[in-house]
Amino acid sequence: MGSVTVREKAFGKLNLSLDVVGKMDNGYHSMLMVMQSVSLHDDVYITIEDGAGEITAHTNRAYIPNTNKNLGFKAAEVFLKELGIKNKSISVSIKKRVPVCAGMGGGSSDAAAVIRGLNRELKTRLSFDDMRRLASMVDSDASFCIEGGTMLASGRGTELKKLPPLPDCVFLIAKPRFSVSTPTLFGKLDGIKVKARPDTAGLIAAIENGDVFGVSRRCFNVFEAALSQREKAIVCGIKDTLVNCGAMGASMTGTGSAVYGVFRSLPEAELAEKELKKTVPECYIASPEPSISE
Ligand code: C5P
Repeated sequence: MGSVTVREKAFGKLNLSLDVVGKMDNGYHSMLMVMQSVSLHDDVYITIEDGAGEITAHTNRAYIPNTNKNLGFKAAEVFLKELGIKNKSISVSIKKRVPVCAGMGGGSSDAAAVIRGLNRELKTRLSFDDMRRLASMVDSDASFCIEGGTMLASGRGTELKKLPPLPDCVFLIAKPRFSVSTPTLFGKLDGIKVKARPDTAGLIAAIENGDVFGVSRRCFNVFEAALSQREKAIVCGIKDTLVNCGAMGASMTGTGSAVYGVFRSLPEAELAEKELKKTVPECYIASPEPSISE
């Protein structure tokens, strides 16, 4: 075979809604979330060579580990092991664009991209369901990222139901400087009484009706309630700016710290970006990304 390199796009995601509805015996939490892929993506290059199962990983961000703590590396490891492939070596090179530690599933999406790329190139003929099962061994959000699009996720986040595509809109995403540890935020949420929850059924109905305003005003994330006072003030400040600049709705995504607003048009989002950049320099504009075809 020699050496072959394939490129896969790894799209980021936003949580249009995020609810934590219980705790399982294995320590994981039961989730109910509407997830949406966005056009902002990493580029994942996967090089496959004849070899004895060596894996290497590299990114354009010095602080991301190149060990199996890198989810692209871990995905390659899971793939070779689960398929019993012993005569190939893999190197994964990731050009990151999706903000890191932002709640946008960048690492999970890199993992999903590695699984899709290896499946295609090694002709292992895995279905999306097979690939989602492998992805769930990497982390909880990677299963969604195999196909992406618009989905309702439940259980650990790996039980997925496809929803109709989101109506046309534009996201403005701001990544504040602080980052939040996912297990820590789950722990803090366990310690508080959640007073407000997303209207998940209403959100799904709005998606089904193509009602972008109805979707936007139902964007809601219970994790915002578990942030520290300082973090909450930053997130609320960004949401206020987004709404004052014309966003139809705004929310934090995942365990943060990125916050997004939903706009009707690109010019509106660009105007808002100018204003928001005065206080949060790291901003991104993205559109809803449709699901990947099998
Ligand atoms: O599966 P993943 O590696 O993304 O999970 C990271 C951590 O987040 C877990 O170790 C767990 O503490 C927490 N988590 C959880 N319930 C979930 C997903 C993640 O408690 N459904």
